[in-house]
Amino acid sequence: MTTWLAGRRVVLGVSGGIAAYKAVELCRRMVDAGAFVSPVLTEDATRFVGQVTFDALGSEKARTSLWDEVEAIPHTQLGRSADVIVVAPATARVIGKYTAGISDDLLIATLLATRAPVVVCPAMHTEMWEHPAVQDNIATLRRRGVHVVDPAVGRLAGGDEGAGRLAEPDDILFAVERALAPQDLAGRHLVVSAGGTREPIDPVRFIGNRSSGKQGHAFAHEAATRGARVTLVTTTDRWAPGPVERVKVDTAAQMEDAVLGAAADADVVVMAAAVADFRPKAPAEKKIKKGEGVPDIVLEPTTDVLAALGERKRAGQVLVGFAAETNNPKEEARRKLARKNLDLIVVNDVTAPGAGFEHETNRVDVLGADGSEQNVPLTDKRSVARIVLDAAVSRLGARP
Ligand code: CTP
Repeated sequence: MTTWLAGRRVVLGVSGGIAAYKAVELCRRMVDAGAFVSPVLTEDATRFVGQVTFDALGSEKARTSLWDEVEAIPHTQLGRSADVIVVAPATARVIGKYTAGISDDLLIATLLATRAPVVVCPAMHTEMWEHPAVQDNIATLRRRGVHVVDPAVGRLAGGDEGAGRLAEPDDILFAVERALAPQDLAGRHLVVSAGGTREPIDPVRFIGNRSSGKQGHAFAHEAATRGARVTLVTTTDRWAPGPVERVKVDTAAQMEDAVLGAAADADVVVMAAAVADFRPKAPAEKKIKKGEGVPDIVLEPTTDVLAALGERKRAGQVLVGFAAETNNPKEEARRKLARKNLDLIVVNDVTAPGAGFEHETNRVDVLGADGSEQNVPLTDKRSVARIVLDAAVSRLGARP
Protein backbone atom coordinates (compact mmCIF):
# COMPACT_ATOMS: atom_id res chain seq x y z
CA MET A 1 0.00 0.00 0.00
CA THR A 2 1.40 3.41 -0.95
CA THR A 3 1.14 5.73 2.01
CA TRP A 4 2.60 9.10 2.91
CA LEU A 5 5.27 7.29 4.92
CA ALA A 6 7.15 6.06 1.85
CA GLY A 7 10.65 7.54 1.67
CA ARG A 8 10.22 9.61 4.86
CA ARG A 9 12.50 9.65 7.91
CA VAL A 10 10.78 8.71 11.14
CA VAL A 11 12.24 8.80 14.64
CA LEU A 12 10.34 6.24 16.72
CA GLY A 13 10.63 7.12 20.40
CA VAL A 14 9.79 4.30 22.78
CA SER A 15 9.43 4.93 26.48
CA GLY A 16 9.17 2.54 29.37
CA GLY A 17 5.71 1.08 29.67
CA ILE A 18 4.37 -2.39 29.07
CA ALA A 19 2.94 -1.18 25.73
CA ALA A 20 6.56 -0.89 24.48
CA TYR A 21 6.06 -4.34 22.95
CA LYS A 22 3.44 -2.85 20.61
CA ALA A 23 6.03 -0.37 19.33
CA VAL A 24 7.80 -3.36 17.78
CA GLU A 25 4.85 -3.94 15.46
CA LEU A 26 4.61 -0.23 14.75
CA CYS A 27 8.30 -0.12 13.83
CA ARG A 28 7.93 -3.04 11.43
CA ARG A 29 4.82 -1.58 9.79
CA MET A 30 6.50 1.78 9.21
CA VAL A 31 9.55 0.11 7.66
CA ASP A 32 7.22 -2.01 5.50
CA ALA A 33 5.52 1.23 4.39
CA GLY A 34 8.88 2.41 3.05
CA ALA A 35 9.87 4.77 5.89
CA PHE A 36 13.42 5.04 7.22
CA VAL A 37 12.88 4.39 10.92
CA SER A 38 15.41 5.38 13.59
CA PRO A 39 14.39 3.87 16.93
CA VAL A 40 15.22 5.80 20.11
CA LEU A 41 14.57 3.94 23.35
CA THR A 42 14.59 5.33 26.86
CA GLU A 43 16.52 3.32 29.40
CA ASP A 44 13.26 2.12 30.95
CA ALA A 45 11.94 0.99 27.55
CA THR A 46 14.84 -1.48 27.32
CA ARG A 47 13.52 -3.15 30.49
CA PHE A 48 10.38 -4.10 28.58
CA VAL A 49 11.74 -4.81 25.09
CA GLY A 50 15.27 -5.68 24.04
CA GLN A 51 17.24 -3.13 22.07
CA VAL A 52 18.25 -5.84 19.57
CA THR A 53 14.60 -6.25 18.56
CA PHE A 54 14.54 -2.65 17.34
CA ASP A 55 18.09 -3.02 15.91
CA ALA A 56 16.78 -5.84 13.76
CA LEU A 57 13.47 -4.27 12.72
CA GLY A 58 14.40 -0.58 12.37
CA SER A 59 16.23 0.94 9.43
CA GLU A 60 19.30 1.54 11.60
CA LYS A 61 20.49 0.49 15.04
CA ALA A 62 18.39 1.62 17.95
CA ARG A 63 19.83 4.40 20.12
CA THR A 64 19.39 4.65 23.86
CA SER A 65 21.82 7.25 25.13
CA LEU A 66 23.17 10.73 24.52
CA TRP A 67 26.63 9.48 25.38
CA ASP A 68 27.22 6.57 22.98
CA GLU A 69 28.33 8.69 20.03
CA VAL A 70 29.02 12.10 21.55
CA GLU A 71 30.92 13.45 18.53
CA ALA A 72 27.90 12.78 16.28
CA ILE A 73 25.61 14.83 18.56
CA PRO A 74 22.82 12.28 18.05
CA HIS A 75 19.91 14.38 19.32
CA THR A 76 20.45 17.32 16.98
CA GLN A 77 21.29 15.03 14.08
CA LEU A 78 18.14 12.95 14.67
CA GLY A 79 15.98 15.98 15.38
CA ARG A 80 17.07 17.83 12.24
CA SER A 81 16.86 14.93 9.82
CA ALA A 82 13.47 13.64 10.97
CA ASP A 83 10.35 14.27 8.88
CA VAL A 84 8.25 13.21 11.86
CA ILE A 85 8.84 11.97 15.41
CA VAL A 86 6.40 9.53 16.97
CA VAL A 87 6.54 8.61 20.64
CA ALA A 88 4.73 5.32 21.30
CA PRO A 89 4.19 4.53 24.03
CA ALA A 90 4.61 7.91 25.73
CA THR A 91 4.69 7.50 29.52
CA ALA A 92 3.59 10.16 31.99
CA ARG A 93 7.28 10.83 32.73
CA VAL A 94 8.24 11.42 29.10
CA ILE A 95 5.14 13.58 28.52
CA GLY A 96 5.99 15.62 31.63
CA LYS A 97 9.65 16.10 30.73
CA TYR A 98 8.83 17.00 27.13
CA THR A 99 6.21 19.53 28.23
CA ALA A 100 8.56 21.07 30.78
CA GLY A 101 11.52 21.04 28.38
CA ILE A 102 13.73 18.98 30.68
CA SER A 103 16.23 17.37 28.40
CA ASP A 104 17.74 14.55 30.42
CA ASP A 105 17.81 11.70 27.94
CA LEU A 106 18.27 11.18 24.20
CA LEU A 107 14.54 10.99 23.45
CA ILE A 108 13.59 14.27 25.18
CA ALA A 109 16.70 16.01 23.77
CA THR A 110 15.68 14.88 20.27
CA LEU A 111 12.10 16.08 20.81
CA LEU A 112 13.38 19.48 21.86
CA ALA A 113 15.91 19.67 19.02
CA THR A 114 13.42 19.05 16.21
CA ARG A 115 11.21 21.28 14.11
CA ALA A 116 9.46 18.27 12.58
CA PRO A 117 5.87 17.37 13.53
CA VAL A 118 5.61 15.26 16.68
CA VAL A 119 3.00 12.55 17.34
CA VAL A 120 2.62 11.53 20.99
CA CYS A 121 0.78 8.32 21.86
CA PRO A 122 0.20 8.15 25.63
CA ALA A 123 -0.15 4.82 27.43
CA MET A 124 -0.50 4.48 31.19
CA HIS A 125 -2.90 3.45 33.92
CA THR A 126 -6.27 5.21 33.97
CA GLU A 127 -5.54 7.01 37.26
CA MET A 128 -2.33 8.42 35.82
CA TRP A 129 -3.92 9.35 32.48
CA GLU A 130 -6.74 11.19 34.27
CA HIS A 131 -4.41 12.97 36.70
CA PRO A 132 -4.61 16.77 36.26
CA ALA A 133 -0.82 16.95 35.87
CA VAL A 134 -0.91 14.64 32.86
CA GLN A 135 -4.08 16.19 31.41
CA ASP A 136 -2.61 19.70 31.73
CA ASN A 137 0.59 18.56 30.04
CA ILE A 138 -1.37 16.97 27.20
CA ALA A 139 -3.41 20.17 26.76
CA THR A 140 -0.18 22.18 26.63
CA LEU A 141 1.34 19.85 24.05
CA ARG A 142 -1.79 20.06 21.90
CA ARG A 143 -1.70 23.85 22.14
CA ARG A 144 1.88 23.75 20.89
CA GLY A 145 0.78 21.79 17.82
CA VAL A 146 1.82 18.33 18.97
CA HIS A 147 -0.45 15.60 17.57
CA VAL A 148 -1.79 13.51 20.44
CA VAL A 149 -3.28 10.08 19.71
CA ASP A 150 -5.64 9.48 22.60
CA PRO A 151 -5.26 6.18 24.40
CA ALA A 152 -7.96 3.58 23.94
CA VAL A 153 -10.19 2.07 26.61
CA GLY A 154 -9.46 -1.57 27.33
CA ARG A 155 -7.35 -4.05 29.23
CA LEU A 156 -4.34 -2.58 31.02
CA ALA A 157 -1.32 -4.14 32.72
CA GLY A 158 -2.24 -6.21 35.79
CA GLY A 159 -5.67 -7.05 34.40
CA ASP A 160 -7.23 -3.62 35.04
CA GLU A 161 -9.68 -2.13 32.56
CA GLY A 162 -10.02 1.49 31.58
CA ALA A 163 -8.69 4.38 29.51
CA GLY A 164 -4.95 4.41 29.02
CA ARG A 165 -4.26 1.57 26.63
CA LEU A 166 -1.93 2.48 23.76
CA ALA A 167 -3.90 3.23 20.60
CA GLU A 168 -3.90 0.51 17.94
CA PRO A 169 -1.08 0.54 15.33
CA ASP A 170 -3.57 1.44 12.54
CA ASP A 171 -4.67 4.54 14.45
CA ILE A 172 -1.09 5.58 15.24
CA LEU A 173 -0.01 5.07 11.62
CA PHE A 174 -2.94 7.21 10.50
CA ALA A 175 -1.84 10.06 12.80
CA VAL A 176 1.77 9.78 11.59
CA GLU A 177 0.67 9.80 7.97
CA ARG A 178 -1.58 12.78 8.54
CA ALA A 179 1.34 14.66 10.07
CA LEU A 180 3.29 14.01 6.85
CA ALA A 181 0.59 14.38 4.16
CA PRO A 182 -0.33 17.64 2.41
CA GLN A 183 -3.48 19.04 4.02
CA ASP A 184 -5.00 19.98 0.67
CA LEU A 185 -8.44 18.75 1.73
CA ALA A 186 -8.50 20.61 5.07
CA GLY A 187 -11.81 22.41 5.55
CA ARG A 188 -13.46 20.21 2.89
CA HIS A 189 -16.20 17.65 3.37
CA LEU A 190 -15.90 14.41 1.42
CA VAL A 191 -18.67 11.84 1.21
CA VAL A 192 -17.74 8.38 0.01
CA SER A 193 -19.81 5.24 -0.38
CA ALA A 194 -18.24 1.81 -0.05
CA GLY A 195 -19.12 -1.87 -0.30
CA GLY A 196 -22.00 -3.72 -1.89
CA THR A 197 -25.64 -3.39 -0.94
CA ARG A 198 -27.80 -6.35 0.13
CA GLU A 199 -31.41 -6.45 -0.95
CA PRO A 200 -33.54 -8.75 1.20
CA ILE A 201 -35.48 -11.62 -0.36
CA ASP A 202 -36.71 -12.80 3.04
CA PRO A 203 -35.38 -12.36 6.62
CA VAL A 204 -32.33 -14.58 5.95
CA ARG A 205 -31.57 -14.25 2.23
CA PHE A 206 -30.52 -11.35 0.06
CA ILE A 207 -29.38 -10.37 -3.41
CA GLY A 208 -25.86 -9.01 -3.11
CA ASN A 209 -22.65 -8.53 -5.01
CA ARG A 210 -18.96 -9.16 -4.51
CA SER A 211 -17.80 -5.63 -3.70
CA SER A 212 -15.42 -5.79 -0.71
CA GLY A 213 -15.49 -2.09 0.15
CA LYS A 214 -11.69 -1.86 -0.09
CA GLN A 215 -11.65 0.87 -2.73
CA GLY A 216 -14.21 3.06 -0.94
CA HIS A 217 -12.43 2.66 2.41
CA ALA A 218 -9.14 3.55 0.69
CA PHE A 219 -10.79 6.82 -0.40
CA ALA A 220 -11.94 7.56 3.15
CA HIS A 221 -8.45 6.80 4.51
CA GLU A 222 -6.65 8.92 1.92
CA ALA A 223 -9.04 11.88 2.24
CA ALA A 224 -8.90 11.88 6.06
CA THR A 225 -5.10 11.73 5.89
CA ARG A 226 -5.18 14.86 3.74
CA GLY A 227 -7.31 16.73 6.26
CA ALA A 228 -10.85 16.27 4.91
CA ARG A 229 -13.88 15.78 7.11
CA VAL A 230 -15.07 12.43 5.81
CA THR A 231 -18.47 10.77 5.88
CA LEU A 232 -18.13 7.13 4.90
CA VAL A 233 -21.38 5.38 3.99
CA THR A 234 -20.40 1.74 4.04
CA THR A 235 -21.90 -1.74 4.02
CA THR A 236 -18.79 -3.30 5.64
CA ASP A 237 -17.15 -3.39 9.07
CA ARG A 238 -13.73 -2.77 7.54
CA TRP A 239 -11.37 -0.40 9.45
CA ALA A 240 -11.48 3.35 8.83
CA PRO A 241 -9.52 6.10 10.61
CA GLY A 242 -11.03 7.27 13.91
CA PRO A 243 -12.07 10.77 12.78
CA VAL A 244 -14.06 9.38 9.84
CA GLU A 245 -17.81 9.53 10.44
CA ARG A 246 -19.09 6.10 9.44
CA VAL A 247 -22.67 5.39 8.55
CA LYS A 248 -23.41 1.69 8.31
CA VAL A 249 -26.01 0.74 5.73
CA ASP A 250 -27.25 -2.45 4.18
CA THR A 251 -29.68 -1.78 1.34
CA ALA A 252 -29.70 0.53 -1.68
CA ALA A 253 -32.54 2.54 -0.09
CA GLN A 254 -30.51 3.09 3.10
CA MET A 255 -27.50 4.04 1.00
CA GLU A 256 -29.64 6.51 -0.94
CA ASP A 257 -30.88 8.20 2.27
CA ALA A 258 -27.46 8.35 3.88
CA VAL A 259 -25.54 9.56 0.82
CA LEU A 260 -28.08 12.16 -0.31
CA GLY A 261 -28.38 13.47 3.25
CA ALA A 262 -24.64 13.77 3.77
CA ALA A 263 -23.92 15.13 0.27
CA ALA A 264 -25.93 18.33 0.76
CA ASP A 265 -22.89 20.25 2.04
CA ALA A 266 -20.18 18.01 0.52
CA ASP A 267 -17.33 19.39 -1.57
CA VAL A 268 -16.53 15.99 -3.07
CA VAL A 269 -18.76 12.92 -3.40
CA VAL A 270 -17.24 9.60 -4.45
CA MET A 271 -19.70 6.81 -5.29
CA ALA A 272 -17.41 3.81 -4.99
CA ALA A 273 -20.13 1.46 -3.70
CA ALA A 274 -21.67 -1.25 -5.84
CA VAL A 275 -25.33 -0.35 -5.42
CA ALA A 276 -27.94 -2.88 -6.53
CA ASP A 277 -29.83 -1.74 -9.61
CA PHE A 278 -32.82 -3.94 -8.70
CA ARG A 279 -34.34 -5.21 -5.47
CA PRO A 280 -37.09 -7.73 -4.65
CA LYS A 281 -40.36 -5.82 -4.88
CA ALA A 282 -41.99 -7.53 -1.91
CA PRO A 283 -39.50 -9.24 0.41
CA ALA A 284 -41.13 -12.13 2.27
CA GLU A 285 -41.77 -11.41 5.95
CA LYS A 286 -41.11 -15.01 6.92
CA LYS A 287 -38.39 -17.32 5.67
CA ILE A 288 -39.36 -18.85 2.33
CA LYS A 289 -39.64 -22.65 2.77
CA LYS A 290 -38.26 -25.08 0.22
CA GLY A 291 -41.46 -27.11 0.33
CA GLU A 292 -43.45 -24.13 -0.99
CA GLY A 293 -41.87 -24.63 -4.43
CA VAL A 294 -39.57 -22.44 -6.54
CA PRO A 295 -40.38 -18.82 -5.61
CA ASP A 296 -40.99 -16.12 -8.20
CA ILE A 297 -38.93 -13.16 -7.05
CA VAL A 298 -40.22 -10.03 -8.73
CA LEU A 299 -37.70 -7.20 -8.89
CA GLU A 300 -38.12 -3.45 -9.06
CA PRO A 301 -35.51 -0.78 -9.85
CA THR A 302 -33.69 1.09 -7.09
CA THR A 303 -32.88 4.79 -7.26
CA ASP A 304 -29.69 5.56 -9.16
CA VAL A 305 -27.99 7.47 -6.33
CA LEU A 306 -25.23 8.80 -8.54
CA ALA A 307 -27.70 10.18 -11.08
CA ALA A 308 -29.70 11.78 -8.24
CA LEU A 309 -26.49 13.39 -6.97
CA GLY A 310 -25.79 14.68 -10.48
CA GLU A 311 -29.25 16.29 -10.66
CA ARG A 312 -28.76 18.23 -7.42
CA LYS A 313 -25.05 19.03 -7.80
CA ARG A 314 -24.07 22.42 -6.42
CA ALA A 315 -21.63 24.76 -8.15
CA GLY A 316 -18.11 23.88 -7.09
CA GLN A 317 -19.05 20.37 -5.93
CA VAL A 318 -17.04 17.56 -7.51
CA LEU A 319 -18.92 14.35 -8.26
CA VAL A 320 -16.99 11.13 -8.89
CA GLY A 321 -18.62 7.95 -10.21
CA PHE A 322 -17.37 4.48 -10.98
CA ALA A 323 -18.02 2.29 -13.99
CA ALA A 324 -17.31 -1.35 -14.55
CA GLU A 325 -17.79 -2.01 -18.24
CA THR A 326 -16.88 -4.91 -20.45
CA ASN A 327 -17.76 -3.54 -23.94
CA ASN A 328 -16.09 -0.33 -25.17
CA PRO A 329 -15.38 0.69 -21.56
CA LYS A 330 -14.21 4.23 -22.22
CA GLU A 331 -16.99 5.19 -24.64
CA GLU A 332 -19.61 3.72 -22.31
CA ALA A 333 -18.06 5.52 -19.35
CA ARG A 334 -17.99 8.84 -21.19
CA ARG A 335 -21.69 8.46 -21.93
CA LYS A 336 -22.35 7.72 -18.25
CA LEU A 337 -20.23 10.72 -17.22
CA ALA A 338 -22.37 13.05 -19.33
CA ARG A 339 -25.72 11.40 -18.51
CA LYS A 340 -25.19 11.51 -14.75
CA ASN A 341 -23.61 15.01 -14.75
CA LEU A 342 -20.32 13.77 -13.23
CA ASP A 343 -16.98 15.56 -13.07
CA LEU A 344 -14.89 12.41 -13.00
CA ILE A 345 -15.51 8.76 -13.72
CA VAL A 346 -13.21 5.95 -12.68
CA VAL A 347 -13.39 3.13 -15.19
CA ASN A 348 -12.51 -0.25 -13.69
CA ASP A 349 -10.80 -2.59 -16.06
CA VAL A 350 -12.71 -5.70 -15.01
CA THR A 351 -10.68 -7.86 -17.41
CA ALA A 352 -7.24 -6.99 -15.94
CA PRO A 353 -5.79 -9.72 -13.68
CA GLY A 354 -5.58 -8.52 -10.08
CA ALA A 355 -8.08 -5.69 -10.58
CA GLY A 356 -11.53 -4.97 -9.20
CA PHE A 357 -13.67 -6.82 -6.66
CA GLU A 358 -11.92 -8.33 -3.62
CA HIS A 359 -8.40 -7.58 -4.88
CA GLU A 360 -5.92 -5.31 -3.12
CA THR A 361 -5.11 -3.70 -6.46
CA ASN A 362 -6.95 -1.99 -9.28
CA ARG A 363 -6.35 -0.98 -12.93
CA VAL A 364 -8.35 2.06 -13.90
CA ASP A 365 -8.76 4.95 -16.29
CA VAL A 366 -9.83 8.29 -14.84
CA LEU A 367 -11.92 10.31 -17.29
CA GLY A 368 -12.85 13.95 -16.73
CA ALA A 369 -15.87 15.92 -17.98
CA ASP A 370 -13.30 18.36 -19.40
CA GLY A 371 -12.10 15.62 -21.77
CA SER A 372 -9.07 14.62 -19.67
CA GLU A 373 -7.97 11.01 -19.48
CA GLN A 374 -5.49 9.41 -17.10
CA ASN A 375 -4.52 5.75 -17.44
CA VAL A 376 -3.50 4.20 -14.12
CA PRO A 377 -1.54 0.94 -14.39
CA LEU A 378 -2.23 -1.88 -11.89
CA THR A 379 -1.61 -0.40 -8.45
CA ASP A 380 -2.89 -0.59 -4.87
CA LYS A 381 -6.31 0.87 -4.12
CA ARG A 382 -4.86 3.58 -1.90
CA SER A 383 -2.83 4.89 -4.87
CA VAL A 384 -5.97 4.88 -7.02
CA ALA A 385 -7.67 6.96 -4.31
CA ARG A 386 -4.73 9.37 -4.22
CA ILE A 387 -4.72 9.89 -8.01
CA VAL A 388 -8.49 10.40 -8.17
CA LEU A 389 -8.45 12.81 -5.18
CA ASP A 390 -5.61 14.77 -6.84
CA ALA A 391 -7.88 15.15 -9.88
CA ALA A 392 -10.82 16.13 -7.61
CA VAL A 393 -8.75 18.72 -5.69
CA SER A 394 -7.72 20.42 -8.95
CA ARG A 395 -11.42 20.75 -9.87
CA LEU A 396 -12.71 22.07 -6.52
CA GLY A 397 -14.21 25.52 -6.44
CA ALA A 398 -12.81 28.16 -4.13
CA ARG A 399 -13.34 27.51 -0.42
CA PRO A 400 -16.57 29.08 0.85
N1 CTP B 1 -24.78 3.66 -8.73
C1 CTP B 1 -25.63 4.33 -7.88
N2 CTP B 1 -26.89 3.86 -7.65
C2 CTP B 1 -27.32 2.74 -8.25
C3 CTP B 1 -26.45 2.03 -9.12
C4 CTP B 1 -25.18 2.52 -9.33
O1 CTP B 1 -25.25 5.37 -7.34
N3 CTP B 1 -28.53 2.30 -7.99
C5 CTP B 1 -23.44 4.22 -8.97
C6 CTP B 1 -22.29 3.36 -8.47
O2 CTP B 1 -21.92 3.70 -7.16
C7 CTP B 1 -21.18 3.73 -9.45
C8 CTP B 1 -21.94 3.93 -10.72
O3 CTP B 1 -23.26 4.29 -10.37
O4 CTP B 1 -20.50 4.91 -9.10
C9 CTP B 1 -21.91 2.68 -11.51
O5 CTP B 1 -22.80 2.67 -12.45
P1 CTP B 1 -23.08 1.22 -13.10
O6 CTP B 1 -23.84 0.39 -12.14
O7 CTP B 1 -21.83 0.67 -13.66
O8 CTP B 1 -23.86 1.59 -14.30
P2 CTP B 1 -25.34 1.94 -14.46
O9 CTP B 1 -25.45 3.44 -14.47
O10 CTP B 1 -26.15 1.22 -13.44
O11 CTP B 1 -25.61 1.44 -15.91
P3 CTP B 1 -25.36 0.02 -16.55
O12 CTP B 1 -25.97 -0.98 -15.61
O13 CTP B 1 -26.05 0.15 -17.82
O14 CTP B 1 -23.89 -0.15 -16.72
